[in-house]
Amino acid sequence: MNCSNNVGRFLTLEGIEGAGKSTQAGYLKEALEAQGIPVVLTREPGGTALGERIRQLLLDPSLPPMAADTELLLLFAARAEHLAQVIRPALARGHWVICDRFTDATYAYQGGGRGLDTSRIAQLETLTQGDLRPDYTLLLDLPVSLGLARAKQRAHLDRLESETHAFFERVRRAYLARARAEPARIQIIDGRGTKSQVREAVLALVRTRMMSGEKNAL
Ligand SMILES: Nc1ncnc2c1ncn2[C@@H]1O[C@H](COP(=O)(O)OP(=O)(O)OP(=O)(O)O)[C@@H](O)[C@H]1O
Ligand SMILES: [Mg+2]
Repeated sequence: MNCSNNVGRFLTLEGIEGAGKSTQAGYLKEALEAQGIPVVLTREPGGTALGERIRQLLLDPSLPPMAADTELLLLFAARAEHLAQVIRPALARGHWVICDRFTDATYAYQGGGRGLDTSRIAQLETLTQGDLRPDYTLLLDLPVSLGLARAKQRAHLDRLESETHAFFERVRRAYLARARAEPARIQIIDGRGTKSQVREAVLALVRTRMMSGEKNAL
């Protein structure tokens, strides 16, 4: 990881629905900006005008089920646009990019959840991203029942949130397997604590893993 001040850092937040990704992404942006670090907070699928339109298609509960490959290709189409319009330019400007879900989510949902062959996901990852990978990924982990209970409080369920409990168990297991396979990049955080407990855990990790040697302190 390049830690010079004029090269951006690429952080992603992952986890099942209701894990607290969006909540913690907002806290992290606030803490980094308080230290004068320019931050771009964005999300997937989405993050661009076209990407948000693709997101609507992906999450629309009124559409009949789409083929798993269609879903996969739409996700990577949105990602290609996001990388070209938002992520790569921000990193080139030296900004930190915090992305609420990224390609690990595709491995977890489409690979783990839907059972797609992960080597095909890897091919699209290389095609779309080249060698760009997140510098650091925080996986907020919690039991499926707790995540879904939190997500349900918030709003009506979208197409993915309406999947079965077993689907989300597979997604959670796939996320944890990825974290075990890439321990240097993916850090598991216990998402069961209060918002402020999880916030402290997130900030402590970012401080020690991404900011050592910098003047700025979180
Ligand atoms: N640690 C926490 N304890 C209790 N409630 C929480 C915690 N973190 C977030 N919440 C609440 O749970 C709900 C889901 O949180 P949030 O939107 O951050 O999750 P998410 O991972 O972004 O979910 P999704 O995948 O559905 O976007 C929100 O209402 C949020 O206020
Ligand atoms: Mg969210």
